[in-house]
Amino acid sequence: MSGDRSGLSVTSFAKVNRDLRVLGKRADGYHELDTVFQSIDLFDTLNFSEGEEGEGAEEDVSLTIEGNAAGQLAADSSNLILRAAHVLREKFAVRRGARIHLSKKIPIGGGLGGGSSNAASALRGLVSLWKLSPADAELHELAASLGSDVPFFLLGGRARGRGRGEILTPLPDGPEEWLLLVFPPFSLSTAEVYARVKARALTGSPSATKVSGSETGGGPERNDLERAAESLRGELRRIRSALAGAGARSARLSGSGSTVFGTFGTKEEASRAMASLEGIGNETKARMAIVKTVSRAEFARRAAPVRLVQRG
Ligand code: C5P
Repeated sequence: MSGDRSGLSVTSFAKVNRDLRVLGKRADGYHELDTVFQSIDLFDTLNFSEGEEGEGAEEDVSLTIEGNAAGQLAADSSNLILRAAHVLREKFAVRRGARIHLSKKIPIGGGLGGGSSNAASALRGLVSLWKLSPADAELHELAASLGSDVPFFLLGGRARGRGRGEILTPLPDGPEEWLLLVFPPFSLSTAEVYARVKARALTGSPSATKVSGSETGGGPERNDLERAAESLRGELRRIRSALAGAGARSARLSGSGSTVFGTFGTKEEASRAMASLEGIGNETKARMAIVKTVSRAEFARRAAPVRLVQRG
């Protein structure tokens, strides 16, 4: 094929949950949450280019994956990126195809929202590639149909999530913080962790459930999934105590795990904590990384689709 083929690149940021409260179990099997999401400077990259030009026939969407998790992630219809492409094509009767390439750095099954972030980035990249103009509410609805956390990744920064996590309120950014992320050498299944949570059953329909504003208002930050995750893997508790002992302002499991993170005011403090965690790092075979929080303005700037020109 000759000529320039236009393409796009989208940065797909991870998140942590600074706070996560399970308010109860819903009639639809999900858990009613009140959580605070925070974007962090750890990201995958998605590249998009036009599919092969077909002769009338509907074109395909293809996905290739490289990076640390390439072997753990199927590039089939179970992949959230291809599911995002599918729902967008159905909704807007798109016949064009796309080639998508994912460069993976966010650990899989780490509670950092990598799959959900990729799904949101795929929606944004393909909307741009295919020149669609969905209303914000339509895009939000497609995102929520792909997973509870996906809508957050259209917004970024810091936000409160209620319902399954998809009912979002933007929050002010707060001062920049540094996080020491500790990645144990195993993943946890979100469904399995939730299944172990001892939540009271909520009465009434999920939409009728009232969550009062005071529920995240008071008290120290916490994550109600920690107990369940730590009962599956005891080393998570030891990593969390080590982080607290190393001076972290807060030491939490992210989402349903397996990543544990400590927050610090400066990069130097985070580096000192990382050095002091070397023992438990070796013992648990955990990897570590230091990242900063990403504000909503920075997210808007860096996560927007960027045009690339590839010589064909
Ligand atoms: O929505 P998503 O597909 O990401 O959720 C994965 C699993 O996590 C669900 O099937 C459910 O078991 C659990 N979950 C839950 N309550 C939530 C979000 C997720 O029970 N609010």
